[in-house]
Amino acid sequence: MAKLIVSDVDVKDKKVLMRVDFNVPIKGGVIGNDNRIVAAIPTIKYVSENGGKVILLSHLGRIKSDDDKKELTLAPVAKKLSELMGKEVVFVPENEGKELESAIDAMKDGDILLMENTRFQDIDNDFGKRESKNDPKLGEYWASLGDVFVNDAFGTAHRAHASNVGISTAMKAANKPVAAGYLMEKEIKFLGDAVDNPVHPFVTILGGAKVSDKIGVIENLIPKSDHIIIGGGMAYTFLAAQGHKIGKSLFEEDKLDLAKELLQKAGDKIVLPVDHVIAKEFSNDADFEVSGIDIPDDYMGLDIGPKSIELFVSKLNDAKTVVWNGPMGAFEMSNFAKGTLEIGKTLGKLQGATTIIGGGDSAAAAQDLGVADQITHISTGGGASLEYLEGKVLPGIDSISDK
Ligand code: 3PG
Repeated sequence: MAKLIVSDVDVKDKKVLMRVDFNVPIKGGVIGNDNRIVAAIPTIKYVSENGGKVILLSHLGRIKSDDDKKELTLAPVAKKLSELMGKEVVFVPENEGKELESAIDAMKDGDILLMENTRFQDIDNDFGKRESKNDPKLGEYWASLGDVFVNDAFGTAHRAHASNVGISTAMKAANKPVAAGYLMEKEIKFLGDAVDNPVHPFVTILGGAKVSDKIGVIENLIPKSDHIIIGGGMAYTFLAAQGHKIGKSLFEEDKLDLAKELLQKAGDKIVLPVDHVIAKEFSNDADFEVSGIDIPDDYMGLDIGPKSIELFVSKLNDAKTVVWNGPMGAFEMSNFAKGTLEIGKTLGKLQGATTIIGGGDSAAAAQDLGVADQITHISTGGGASLEYLEGKVLPGIDSISDK
């Protein structure tokens, strides 16, 4: 059923609690990548420009000790958001209590406030991880601060925490609206359509180190995809299952039978590399060469080879829907980046196709390559987009009211 969207709700003069995912890479107060902040702006802007008071909540990292609090304060994020929006964002260094409540009371229509990292609630209390274990009292407290709840944190939708599911539950119990923000709406539309209603030919591209991370996605997408292209470290377990020599390449012995089963289930839908860029060491300084499908004993595969690139591109050329998750090789080392780069470029050039990148490394690769603008949708969710592609019900989405 369609979800209630922020534009369905009256926000004027209302205190609008908004869960965003500002879990961005940060070191010494410097934000490494602000994509998630940028992606949340349309909803924040909409509510602010329509006379709502925007009260933002987000987690950042994982808090295990008081020391973590210094590195994982949201203060630099408030500053960044303010710069990006060209508007003051009030930062409150608390997420519970008098200081927060007074700051909210002082807000005027259109103002924006960000409270401190919700996971600061995961230590120093009797409950334990109040945020991450969804203490209902914490959800009720946060819900009591607002009139409307907007959940725009797709990246956190696979978690059932107090600041998403807890607030939603308490808001609904108090007959207050729980709506999706525009980012959440967009993520559900693109990933949802790809999984439930793809325009064919539908090609899934999977990579990354481990088969175990992608089993659910492969199983869910075998019947829906026309081709499932598998590259990266996970390809070697499949090649071993076909009886190929994989040398010292990444290999999950305990997934060998599963790989055999998936290959059987998928028939000829699974497309594997036919050659590799190989080296003796996992290092950009190592000598490298191209091998055939079999890899000599003292070598490891670190990227797909030129023939594999050609094969994969041929499967992509007439695609109408493409979902890509995971790099084709050790792309962080320039000598082994070509496979990932070529796949990114191909996606960028596809005409008339909907191209979707599940967050993480493949999203970073698309950005490094400068093709991010030519991709239809780059998800802000890593774990969340994977679970969505597995066909799972995500608690953060499920807890938003239906229309
Ligand atoms: C993510 O980056 O995947 C989300 O922000 C969730 O973070 P978590 O894995 O720490 O719950």
